[in-house]
Amino acid sequence: MLLKTVLLLALVAQVLVLENGLLRKPPMGWLAWERFRCNTDCNEDPKNCISERLFMEMADRLAQDGWRELGYEYLNIDDCWIGGRDAKGNLVPDPKRFPNGMAFLADYAHSLGLKLGIYADMGNFTCMGYPGTTLDKVVQDAQTFAKWKVDMLKLDGCFSTPEERAEGYPKMAAALNATGRPIAFSCSWPAYEGGLPPKVNYTLLVDICNLWRNYDDIQDSWSSVLSILDWFVTHQDILQPVAGPGHWNDPDMLLIGNFGLSFEQARAQMALWTVLAAPLFMSTDLRTISAQNMDILQNPLMIKINQDPLGIQGRRILKEKSYIEVYMRPLASEASAIVFFSRRTDMPYPYRTSLARLNFTSSKVYECCAPPCRPRTSTRVTSSVASGIKPTSH
Ligand SMILES: *[C@@H]1O[C@H](CO)[C@@H](O)[C@H](O)[C@H]1NC(C)=O
Ligand SMILES: *[C@@H]1O[C@H](CO)[C@@H](O)[C@H](O)[C@H]1NC(C)=O
Ligand SMILES: *[C@@H]1O[C@H](CO)[C@@H](O)[C@H](O)[C@H]1NC(C)=O
Ligand SMILES: *[C@@H]1O[C@H](CO)[C@@H](O)[C@H](O)[C@H]1NC(C)=O
Repeated sequence: MLLKTVLLLALVAQVLVLENGLLRKPPMGWLAWERFRCNTDCNEDPKNCISERLFMEMADRLAQDGWRELGYEYLNIDDCWIGGRDAKGNLVPDPKRFPNGMAFLADYAHSLGLKLGIYADMGNFTCMGYPGTTLDKVVQDAQTFAKWKVDMLKLDGCFSTPEERAEGYPKMAAALNATGRPIAFSCSWPAYEGGLPPKVNYTLLVDICNLWRNYDDIQDSWSSVLSILDWFVTHQDILQPVAGPGHWNDPDMLLIGNFGLSFEQARAQMALWTVLAAPLFMSTDLRTISAQNMDILQNPLMIKINQDPLGIQGRRILKEKSYIEVYMRPLASEASAIVFFSRRTDMPYPYRTSLARLNFTSSKVYECCAPPCRPRTSTRVTSSVASGIKPTSH
């Protein structure tokens, strides 16, 4: 009896803990959805439709414009790539839009030092109505993705029941593991269950997923950024502790370079996503992005903080009556990243604070490793980041 129990426990542990060693730092890259959605009209819009050409052109930009060196290495496909299933039930891409197939695209990404991510949906259909991955297809689809040499899978959750998702996501994690190919696993599961316990079991997600979408899809607007931020902050006591190397909360893509954010709002999203230890998935047209937006996304300090090896998610530590909020993220070497975030809608505001108010102990001497951005008189400042407040060594 005792032996049986021990064996059973060992089995359970083996089934559930599928640590694949990937994504020790938040993933960085490019994801098609927010900017290119489900544009499949390659006759009218050959440059921008979801197609091999779009992904190859983005791959070229990632490799040639300095992105890859900074860590933006994932080239991720989202919905609307699927053409159907072949006679054996294997997923196949749309033959017109992906004439050379997915293995070709993966090879192309790899030849440029990039990784390829793909999309599927745990359910009858993808969110846009393409063939889904039903429970009986989970293992087969995992094998297909591994055969193509895909490096990441985003598994969406449209057209399924909570019961099917509860079975399907762990099953996909096990199926990916069984392929033997390291494939990072991005789970949309919690977003379909409201994002919070008791419906969402974050202990389980940490075991089976490398990142997960907790909340609504981001849309190209500042109000969307704020609604996501508000939700993450409201629930930070639950969400902050579950993030760490290999398992991240995902507040969704960066909007920077698109149409909905001002320059200051774009900087603010970058700073906030950075302290939240969020995946940095751009979703913009890298062929036409402005130098200014490129500067935001390629800011070396932001990337360094986002990729900090401790992998601790930051928190909002202060919400002032003046509509200034302070966010703090602990970093390696006793450093801290601090974001001063203004929700004011009037004009630049001179915010004063002190180390004591931010709970930095007075028994140490601190150095400021990076100067805070100075408010400019011409624009309204939405955020400013002072990184690396750090005890001086002596
Ligand atoms: C599968 O899971 C085991 C146990 O956590 C792990 O050691 C192994 O690296 C995983 N393999 C892949 C390919 O993810
Ligand atoms: C999925 O399809 C099956 C078979 O047609 C159907 O019985 C089931 O209700 C569908 N599930 C959902 C969540 O739409
Ligand atoms: C959550 O998942 C973990 C790991 O699988 C499991 O041990 C635990 O019992 C689950 N918690 C709840 C409340 O279901
Ligand atoms: C500082 O520490 C106190 C006591 O632990 C706590 O109540 C307060 O919220 C902290 N303030 C900040 C800004 O972290």
